[in-house]
Parts: sequence; C-alpha cells; structure tokens
Amino acid sequence: MTLDSLQLLFFKNYDDAALRLSPGLNCFIGDNGSGKTNLLDAIHYLSLTKSAITASDALCIKQDADFFVVKGVFSSNNTSDKETIQVSLRQGQKKTVTHDKQAYERMADHIGRYPAVLISPYDTDLIRQGSEERRKYFDSLMAQLDHEFLEQLISYNSLLRQRNAVLKQGGHSNAHGFDRDYLLAIDEQLAPLGQQLTALREAFLIDYLPIFQRHYEQLADGREQVMLTYKSQLVGADFAQLLRLNERKDFVLQRSTIGSHRDDFVFVMNDQPVKSHASQGQQKSFAIALKLAQFELLAAKQQKKPLLLLDDIFDRLDDKRIARLLELVADETFGQVFLTDTNLERTDQALARVTVPILRFRVQNGTVAPV
Ligand SMILES: Nc1ncnc2c1ncn2[C@@H]1O[C@H](COP(=O)(O)OP(=O)(O)OP(=O)(O)O)[C@@H](O)[C@H]1O
Ligand SMILES: [Mg+2]
Repeated sequence: MTLDSLQLLFFKNYDDAALRLSPGLNCFIGDNGSGKTNLLDAIHYLSLTKSAITASDALCIKQDADFFVVKGVFSSNNTSDKETIQVSLRQGQKKTVTHDKQAYERMADHIGRYPAVLISPYDTDLIRQGSEERRKYFDSLMAQLDHEFLEQLISYNSLLRQRNAVLKQGGHSNAHGFDRDYLLAIDEQLAPLGQQLTALREAFLIDYLPIFQRHYEQLADGREQVMLTYKSQLVGADFAQLLRLNERKDFVLQRSTIGSHRDDFVFVMNDQPVKSHASQGQQKSFAIALKLAQFELLAAKQQKKPLLLLDDIFDRLDDKRIARLLELVADETFGQVFLTDTNLERTDQALARVTVPILRFRVQNGTVAPV
C-alpha cells in the first residue's frame, strides 16, 4: 500500500498544498513551526480519521477558514487500482470520510484499512501521563487489529456513559430519582463485556510483549531489560459481583469506580518504573519500541506494511540508536516512510546508506515543494 499523492485545503497552517510522494522515503525538511508535523498529521487523518496531536477536529481548520479537506490517493502493491480517501470538515458540521466519493456511515468501518504508525516526540506522553493515555493507545491499536474488539469497546463505553448518567441522576435527586432497575439492567450487559475486554487485552499482550522486547533489545543493543504488564481490577475477578459490591460507593461518587475503563499497562525497565527511573533517551527508545511492535503486528495482520511517520526522530536519540533505527529503513523492513527534520544536511548524512528511493521536500510557512 502506497500513498501516491496528498492534497490539503485549509488544513492547519496550509491553504492549498498538493504533493506527489515517493513509494520509498519522503523527507520533509523545514524550520520549527513551518508545518512538517502538520503534514504527517494529515496522513494520520487519512488512516485513522483523526489527528494524532490536536484534540478537536475543528482546531485543524485553518484559522479564519470555514472548512478543511485532506485527500489522499492510495495504490495497492498488487493491483493498479487507485483508491481515494477524503476527510473533510466544515465548521459546525459533522466530519465526513469518503472512500472513492462514497461516504462511510461509521468511521469504525474505515479504521484499520489504511494503517499508519506515527513515531513522534509526543510518544513519551505514554510513559509520563496517566493510565488513560496508555489505555487509549492500546485500545486504538487493538481496534485496528481486531474489529470485534472495537465493537465491544464501543458498546462498553456507551453502556458506561449510561451507567454514569444514572448514578449522577441518583446523586442529584437524593436517592429518590435513582433508577436501580435500570442500573441493574445496564450492569447485566456491562459485566460480560468488561470480562471479554480483559480477556482480549490479556491475549493481546501475550502476542505483543515479545515483539516489543525484541525491538527494544535491537534499538538499545541489549543495554536495558524492559517489561510490560497488564493491570486490571477484573483479572481473576467476577466483574458482575464487583459491580454489586461497589454499588454504594459508585452511587456516592456518582461514577463507576470499577471496570475496564480503569485498566492500565505498567512499563518497567530493569525492574524499575520507566517513568521515574529511565533517562529521556531510554524513555524515547521505549516509546519507539512500542511503536515498532505496533508496526509489526499491523503489518502481519493486514498483510500490508503501514505507512510509517517518523516525526523528529533525530531528537534525543544517540547516534547509535538513530543508526539502528535507520537500518530498518535501509533493509526495507518498512514500506513507505515519511520523516521530518529541521536540517537537510543531517538528514542526508543519516540516510547516506539508505538505498530506497528518497524524495526531499522543503516545508516553509505552510507551503511544501520538492527540493
Ligand atoms: N488551525 C490552524 N490554523 C492555522 N495555523 C495552525 C493551525 N493549527 C496549527 N497551526 C500552526 O501550524 C504551525 C506549524 O506546526 P507544525 O507542528 O507542523 O510545525 P513543525 O514544522 O512540525 O515544527 P517543529 O519543527 O517545531 O516540530 C504552527 O505554528 C501552528 O501554530
Ligand atoms: Mg514538528
């Protein structure tokens, strides 16, 4: 799968940009704030229908404009067929995603079809921030790997919202408006879903962990030992029973204190928490290994290589780790790659031994052109 061309209209700091891309390596070079990451984010939109960076779609509309369009033409490696994906949003309206001009009814139907993996400086947020960040990351990956998981997660989240609404209502009306029958009915559906999500997350980690550890080992040349564990209130427990046991507490706090939405993944390096004990470069390496394992699983599942988006990879990594990462680009482990940097000479030096076709683009203040 290759992204042949990309077109942006009023997306972030771009007015109107169009570029033809290399099936090999594409380098976006420009100063800070010129729009390099925005280009990768536009590609992220085509793959996952949302930004990797900006929390709200509306913030991606160029300031003072009233819509944005991101359009990409994909070709598959085995056929000459072209497929056009377009994501657009008009101020105050719903986002639309089309495949060859046909709108998807649900965004979920698009997810996983054009996989992409972004490696960015923000990845260390996975380590530094709370459990929600990690859960979202692994949920998004599992959703791309397993449509069933996505469906179950959507149902779980919808039931959880209903449950919390009931708890809130009850709290405000001093127990009189508390609809316990409704709560029990929700819990009857919620309990098996939560239990299934736990089983799926456990099974996922069994596949993912050795791949992650291998990538870390390669990147860091065996200097540190890393480990991931899954932490859930539901492991080895009866969720239905836990819901009953905590009903009183949930009612007082007006939210659901037990469930899959409290799960976490614990990151460990040399038997210590990564967050408090690993250096910045080690944390960055840890995050990159997470993403490389993601790449490998997605590639195997889809039998096509995801687009790889490397944002600022030269930041914080020592030369040896950069070289080992770029070896993977050179030996064609990856398919199409997009990378950003501020310095053309440094990029050229780092890529001196890469033999895949390379296109360089100069990014300047919301414009992009081949060098
Ligand atoms: N909705 C928007 N309208 C206009 N400009 C925007 C919008 N969203 C983001 N920008 C601008 O886009 C600019 C470029 O951002 P981007 O993150 O792509 O830069 P970059 O080239 O990756 O820089 P760096 O080297 O610092 O990472 C920023 O100055 C930001 O203010
Ligand atoms: Mg950037």
